[in-house]
Amino acid sequence: MIVYLNGEYLPADQAKISPLDRGFLFGDGIYEAIPSYNGRAVALRLHIDRMRRGLDAIGIDNPMTDEAWKSVANELSERNGGGNLGIYFHVSRGNEGRRMHRFPAGIPPTVFATVLEIAPPSPFPDRKTEKGFRVGTAEDQRWNHCDIKSTALLGNLLHYQQSHEAGMDETILYNHAGEITEASSSNVFVVINGEVATPPLDNQKLPGISRHICLESLRADSSLPVSEREVTIDEAREAEEIWLTNSSKRIVPVVEMDGQPVSDGQVGEVWEKALRIYEAAQYDF
Ligand SMILES: Cc1ncc(COP(=O)(O)O)c(C=O)c1O
Repeated sequence: MIVYLNGEYLPADQAKISPLDRGFLFGDGIYEAIPSYNGRAVALRLHIDRMRRGLDAIGIDNPMTDEAWKSVANELSERNGGGNLGIYFHVSRGNEGRRMHRFPAGIPPTVFATVLEIAPPSPFPDRKTEKGFRVGTAEDQRWNHCDIKSTALLGNLLHYQQSHEAGMDETILYNHAGEITEASSSNVFVVINGEVATPPLDNQKLPGISRHICLESLRADSSLPVSEREVTIDEAREAEEIWLTNSSKRIVPVVEMDGQPVSDGQVGEVWEKALRIYEAAQYDF
């Protein structure tokens, strides 16, 4: 595998950074993950915009222009054989040669990018063959800035691991008021009384790019009612369908939550329709 590190493309095993890098010491950085199918990236501009906002929010100077980021994405995909890839960007606050909490001045950020294989697109989703996820739930224990795509993911990892150890695929999170925030690595949608709903964006959730594509493509298609509104975890237990959105997995149906089937425990029809609409529209973003 070929990776990008601070201006160079090189084999992954030759890429080296210092243990004094603030990304390693503190998780002091921002990341992005962008799907690319046979060399065609989805919503690259939206991902770069979100990364720029994240860097601004934590006071790291964006080390590259939008054009340079695009060229790293394209070049990495090409050098790794095209195919279905998640392109990962990571910018840390850099290395000042010692471990200090306060932000150092005048040192360059560390820029790293790599790829991982992702599932191919599925333009003809079939609910009969789709397995669906089994998920757990938990009260959200993370920090107050989940809208920032920070590399410090320990809270998310602990939530994910809890379900993984119980043989499940994800953990849906809710706040102290019982309202769903998101899941440990995805946003949440429900179908209730035929309406597709997802919680509104705020500091408790990452503004997911796949959430945006799902919402906006369904709105443009206009055959399904869609809303952004609070959804409680108790409402979700009675939902007809639950979905998770994540750029590398698009829309994933949930068939079981906390050991109980979602509706009849089968993947739903609305999911099938929504994914078809999503896949037809994804390159328009
Ligand atoms: C906590 C969290 N929420 C939501 C998402 C979905 O974001 P996107 O649709 O941009 O992949 C992710 C993706 O990694 C995530 O980590």
